[in-house]
Amino acid sequence: MIKKLENKVAIITGATSGMGKAIAITFVAHGAKVILSGRDEIRGNALSDELGKQAVFLGGDIRHPSYNEQLVTAAIKHFGKLDILSMNAGILGIGSVTDLPDELWKNTIDTNLSSIFYLSKYAIPELQKNKRSTILINASIAAYKSFPNHPAYCASKAGSLALMRQMAVEYAPQIRVNAMCPGPVDTPLLRNSAQAFNDPEKAVENAANQTLLKRLGESNDIANLALFLVSEDASWITGSAMTIDGGILNT
Ligand SMILES: NC(=O)c1ccc[n+]([C@@H]2O[C@H](COP(=O)([O-])OP(=O)(O)OC[C@H]3O[C@@H](n4cnc5c(N)ncnc54)[C@H](OP(=O)(O)O)[C@@H]3O)[C@@H](O)[C@H]2O)c1
Repeated sequence: MIKKLENKVAIITGATSGMGKAIAITFVAHGAKVILSGRDEIRGNALSDELGKQAVFLGGDIRHPSYNEQLVTAAIKHFGKLDILSMNAGILGIGSVTDLPDELWKNTIDTNLSSIFYLSKYAIPELQKNKRSTILINASIAAYKSFPNHPAYCASKAGSLALMRQMAVEYAPQIRVNAMCPGPVDTPLLRNSAQAFNDPEKAVENAANQTLLKRLGESNDIANLALFLVSEDASWITGSAMTIDGGILNT
């Protein structure tokens, strides 16, 4: 196998679950050294153990600027540099505008959007020290398509695309900045959101059937796109949002 991320150092947020975890496993398989971020110490340490000395888990809450700064410090301390940010931490924050508690609105915006600003802010000076650094944001088709009861989620994801494009302009040509916009992917986040329906299993099945390709995405589908976008294979791609949704936006 050709290793596409040899000698690269990445910070991966949301690495304790779902797509972030699959991205961490894929990046390490391709030679990267990774700082794993998430709150759950048990899952974080288990993944770090599984990945061996190429991975270090640093637990914390991505809503806090100081934790984002610590992630960057950890990359330099353990691996000596930083080349890649893969930002996947996210929550749904379900509730309509009239129902959503202010606190949940703030929590969702802080987790899904402000954390991208904080981590980028501390990481960019380190990314600028290398020639071919990349930032990759895990957004959502919710940046384009509105879903009932997801105002904070949709707003945060649309905001993350605007921030991605702005940073692509500001930090070119040194840093490439891109986003992925997944449709329904079979992760704990999707399974938890289905609990809001009377028949959660049916709700998941419906989501799969609504795609043109008649299946949910798997975390590895997203990890493969992430690998492409942060690797030299995508060296002429910046400021782009790649939809990866089984075709659901076209339905
Ligand atoms: N699943 C889908 O259908 C879908 C579709 C489109 C886009 N997305 C986006 O893809 C990304 C990954 O989602 P997923 O489905 O893989 O979700 P997931 O399995 O629920 O994982 C979410 C990750 O975010 C971390 N996280 C949440 N809040 C955090 C906080 N305050 N501080 C630190 N870490 C925090 C979680 O860490 P802990 O568990 O350790 O707290 C976990 O690692 C999210 O941004 C999501 O919006 C998902």
